[in-house]
Amino acid sequence: MSDFLVEAMQIEDLAEVLDVEGGGGAAWTRQQFVEELQAVHGFQFVARAARSQRVMAFACGRLCGSEAEILKLAVALPWRRRGMGSGLLLHVLAHCRQEGVADCFLEVRASNVAARVLYEKYGFTEAGLRRSYYVSPREDAVLMRMRLTR
Ligand SMILES: CC(C)(COP(=O)(O)OP(=O)(O)OC[C@H]1O[C@@H](n2cnc3c(N)ncnc32)[C@H](O)[C@@H]1OP(=O)(O)O)[C@@H](O)C(=O)NCCC(=O)NCCS
Repeated sequence: MSDFLVEAMQIEDLAEVLDVEGGGGAAWTRQQFVEELQAVHGFQFVARAARSQRVMAFACGRLCGSEAEILKLAVALPWRRRGMGSGLLLHVLAHCRQEGVADCFLEVRASNVAARVLYEKYGFTEAGLRRSYYVSPREDAVLMRMRLTR
């Protein structure tokens, strides 16, 4: 899709990023995003609606040698099911490949069907279960892994 563009997240984006993040149990604070932006091996991207230029989605992760972990990927409610999550995920995976990553990991709530289907669609597979990993509500995390090929 071409009605959005993906860019590196800047500190000026954080008010809009926090709007997308919302206030749920696992939501990061502004301070957590600020620290993530300063993380030496971190990567952070936003997707902006081409017309309004507003941030409608974001992704954060960390590189660790030949591995990467996606920590966050979220799309604003009105923009879901319009390809933005896919666009952002593909951008993250391209970045990881460029950085020499061989394996990309992430954790997702077991009940989060939307995210699990999205990740499976692009090649992630289940690599394990972390029992009672999440709180409020308590729930298992599914560990997903994707082997990246160049
Ligand atoms: C998961 C999330 C990022 C998906 O973003 P999105 O922009 O809606 O995703 P896309 O439009 O690119 O969808 C790509 C594919 O994922 C799957 N998918 C997305 N949402 C789905 C849903 N609600 N139910 C089932 N499959 C879904 C579909 O296969 C979809 O392809 P299709 O629309 O052609 O059927 C979004 O729902 C979200 O922000 N959720 C809240 C935050 C979250 O849970 N993040 C993941 C934490 S690990």
